[in-house]
Amino acid sequence: MNPKRFKKLHGEFLRSNKDKISQFWGYEINPRWFNRVLSDPIPRYRWFRSVLPDINGLKILDLCGAFGMFGAYLKSVKGYSFEYTCFDKDEPKLEFGPEYFKAFGLKPPRFVLGNIYNPLQFMNDSFDMVWLMGWCAKRVKNNFDGLFKEVNKVLRPKGYFIFNMAFTEYKTRSSREELIDLLENTGFTILRLDKIPNKVDFGVVAHKSTDHLSI
Ligand SMILES: C[S@@+](CC[C@H](N)C(=O)[O-])C[C@H]1O[C@@H](n2cnc3c(N)ncnc32)[C@H](O)[C@@H]1O
Repeated sequence: MNPKRFKKLHGEFLRSNKDKISQFWGYEINPRWFNRVLSDPIPRYRWFRSVLPDINGLKILDLCGAFGMFGAYLKSVKGYSFEYTCFDKDEPKLEFGPEYFKAFGLKPPRFVLGNIYNPLQFMNDSFDMVWLMGWCAKRVKNNFDGLFKEVNKVLRPKGYFIFNMAFTEYKTRSSREELIDLLENTGFTILRLDKIPNKVDFGVVAHKSTDHLSI
């Protein structure tokens, strides 16, 4: 599907579900917001698109994926074929997912309810790639140790972990060092760690080098 058509359908979907969506989202989503994500230079998303390898045939877990906007976009506009699982803690967002995919003529993927701070309820080594996008935390330590171990557990060996995060309570330097330590201590090899030129965002591409259980 060409991007123009995707944006049109996306806008129509949000407009026709405006009341329900603003109820669970807490505010009205501007239909133009995702259009900006897709076309404008929002650094965090531009970074994501620029580092994404060929994902055809992969099994992908999108943590905090809301109703799966990125999955739908990559399937529909980019034409990738991949097995997509969208994970979020808010049931109403997930419930919107199947309708959202159908709006683009796509088969709904798997939507799973859960919290990233609890053990992930998936089989070991069951994904080729995990995303965590648009995340914000005060600091690295104590927030992500458990999560990174869980991501390591569900990724297959050499599987990719791609995420971007903002750390609001830390200077860039210490966040960067803590992030490197934590990734290495939870069994990842960092392929790239970029400072995204926007506030305090980091973008990371890592792959699972060791099973953290054996560290
Ligand atoms: C800012 S949105 C990001 C959506 C999408 N990943 C993106 O980048 O456009 C954050 C999402 O994370 C979800 N979320 C927040 N805390 C979570 C948690 N502890 N576990 C799972 N999902 C969570 C929210 O419900 C929301 O859908």
